Amino acid sequence: MTLHVPQPSAGCSVLVTGGAGFIGSHVADALLAQGHRVVILDDLSTGDRRRVPAEARFVKADLREPGLDALLLEEKVDTVFHLAAQVDVRKSVENPVFDAEVNVLGTIRVAQAAGLAGVVQVVFSSSSGAIYGDPEDIVATEDHPLNPCSPYGVAKLAGEKYLTALAPDAGYLLTILRYANVYGPRQDGRGEAGVIGVWMNRLLSGQDAVVNGDGRQTRDFVHVADAVAANQAAFLHRVGGTFNVGTGVETSISDLYGLVAGACGVVAPPRFGPPKPCEQRRSVLDPSRARAALGLRELVPLAEGMRATSKWFRLHRAEQGLG
Ligand SMILES: NC(=O)c1ccc[n+]([C@@H]2O[C@H](COP(=O)([O-])OP(=O)(O)OC[C@H]3O[C@@H](n4cnc5c(N)ncnc54)[C@H](O)[C@@H]3O)[C@@H](O)[C@H]2O)c1
Repeated sequence: MTLHVPQPSAGCSVLVTGGAGFIGSHVADALLAQGHRVVILDDLSTGDRRRVPAEARFVKADLREPGLDALLLEEKVDTVFHLAAQVDVRKSVENPVFDAEVNVLGTIRVAQAAGLAGVVQVVFSSSSGAIYGDPEDIVATEDHPLNPCSPYGVAKLAGEKYLTALAPDAGYLLTILRYANVYGPRQDGRGEAGVIGVWMNRLLSGQDAVVNGDGRQTRDFVHVADAVAANQAAFLHRVGGTFNVGTGVETSISDLYGLVAGACGVVAPPRFGPPKPCEQRRSVLDPSRARAALGLRELVPLAEGMRATSKWFRLHRAEQGLG
């Protein structure tokens, strides 16, 4: 079925779930800058109220609570950017029920509410590495086999499948963005996730940084500005579909450490720890589909992004309660 999807009108309303989080707050900033009305729904479980832009309406609520459809109707929301999630892979292993409640049931609630409120488009933030599993092809396209090996990956994939299954009846256009490893300003430097933020925080505080495993595992690191550009392009182009959001550049964790340490002015080598369970050996994305269909190109190369991110960590670590 082909949906006739009108272009978003100037100043239309959008909802960003998880808009007090790392990526969601940047998405909200960009949409406000384009002149749209932005409503942010976030329970602040890992998000920070200070990341919410002053011009946005902020609703502190848990995604799983009823009432989302009423909010979407009240605000006449055109597009939902669904980023709210339990994002910690380790926590998903420790408590898969909670992970599924937020990432599966929460996403089903978004789909249902979007249908009830006549939302035009849902843009879902998914994950590439977590759902592709150990790559069978060195450079993974969107057609790569889906072999999630963590509860988090299973739940993100289930979220994609539920949104897809419910779309025809609910009537929304669906765009799925499968991010590589996103880094940049406002990244959380405290938890286990987001190695660049964690390392920058430790190195700038005079601590050492741990490389899990031999450091030869590889990842695709994409700057948050590129993830934001993918959300904006999905919103404007309205073609729907599933897209990798990555760079196509494979970077080893050892090389990454060199870049992070250089950006932080540190010469000390990393400390090597045991490999993490359930970690892919190699992971790099083919970004060509998003580039062709959404007109994306890489905005921020890794070395440049690293410098900007370390600058942000130097300036904002104290107010984040880091260091
Ligand atoms: N950061 C990455 O590298 C990366 C990679 C792949 C996919 N993603 C996806 O991108 C999205 C955003 O990730 P992020 O890195 O910004 O994480 P984040 O933790 O900074 O943001 C998630 C936000 O969701 C909110 N939230 C969590 N549970 C909620 C609930 N039940 N109700 C309402 N709000 C809730 C949190 O408070 C937080 O503000 C997630 O869906 C994540 O799975 C991120």
